Amino acid sequence: MPDLEAYNQLERHVLQAVEDIQSTQSESELDQLRVSLLGKKALVTHLIRSIRHLPSESRPVAGKSAAAAKSRIEQELQTKRVDLRIAARNRRLESEKVDVTLPGRECSRGGPHPLSRTMDRMLEIFSGIGFDIVVGPEIEDDYHNFEALNIPPEHPARAMQDTFYFNDQKLLRTHTSPVQIRYMENNSPPMRVVAPGRVYRCDSDITHSPMFHQLEGLVVDEHTTFADLKGVLEYFVQEFFEVDLNLRFRPSYFPFTEPSAEVDISCVFCEGSGCSVCKKSGWLEVLGCGMVHPALYQNVGIDGERFTGYAFGMGVERFTMLRYGVNDLRLFFRNDLELLRQFQW
Ligand code: PHE
Repeated sequence: MPDLEAYNQLERHVLQAVEDIQSTQSESELDQLRVSLLGKKALVTHLIRSIRHLPSESRPVAGKSAAAAKSRIEQELQTKRVDLRIAARNRRLESEKVDVTLPGRECSRGGPHPLSRTMDRMLEIFSGIGFDIVVGPEIEDDYHNFEALNIPPEHPARAMQDTFYFNDQKLLRTHTSPVQIRYMENNSPPMRVVAPGRVYRCDSDITHSPMFHQLEGLVVDEHTTFADLKGVLEYFVQEFFEVDLNLRFRPSYFPFTEPSAEVDISCVFCEGSGCSVCKKSGWLEVLGCGMVHPALYQNVGIDGERFTGYAFGMGVERFTMLRYGVNDLRLFFRNDLELLRQFQW
């Protein structure tokens, strides 16, 4: 049974308790300490419970010091708990710290493929002078790819085109000219359109890819002449290459234009003096064109007496090679990083 002396000794016990509390390093340690300081078997608990066994005159003093000891210990525990939480949080924040001044990791940037760049440039130039942009299907029928373009079944032009056929009727378009027909079938003059897209021919070597790109142009209006065609193409070529180039129109033949011409530009590499690219001729062939053949108007139901028009078709790969000095067509289709990295933004 404790006597009053035990209660008077409590102060020392509290001092020791405070010291123990101060030296705890974690909340779990603190929880354990709390049990031993204030739990069922703790000294303070025992003394509080034993007060009733003391002589009545001792009880007030004993009660007071026991209660004071208990509340001091409780308070210390509480304060320590708060300190431990703050310290833990600070440690966490420290470990999660991000130095926002560190240099970033560079991510590699891409850029449009040179063919896309060329296509965009071409479309921009033509839209700038009032052309609308239209497209047609890559899987075409015989009618739009050949027949309606004045290329009947036995026409030798068919053999020249190395067509990929699905069956008698369906094929991969060999040029963008069928878009002329589709557009004229569904619209009436005046019309002024360009049609970019993929075309396919069963052909593959240094200068031919089985899939390549063309840009078709079509203008139909009253009083449209070959001079208009020349003017537009001259403007386009100057804008595209951004240098003064000469154009040469050579008479040629396409079943869907009459008269027809092939257009050469003075060589962009040697400026006409003759080099390996232009095979010493000083000229580069870049496109085909002509006045829309009257048979086409008949096929699409446009009055060929009243309206005249011109059409042209150019190879996007060819223009890209000439503008950027790329000497092998196949580079465009190889995902060649050495080439593509030069076209990063
Ligand atoms: N379609 C022709 C070709 O692929 C080019 C062309 C288009 C010629 C329009 C004249 C008019 O070669």
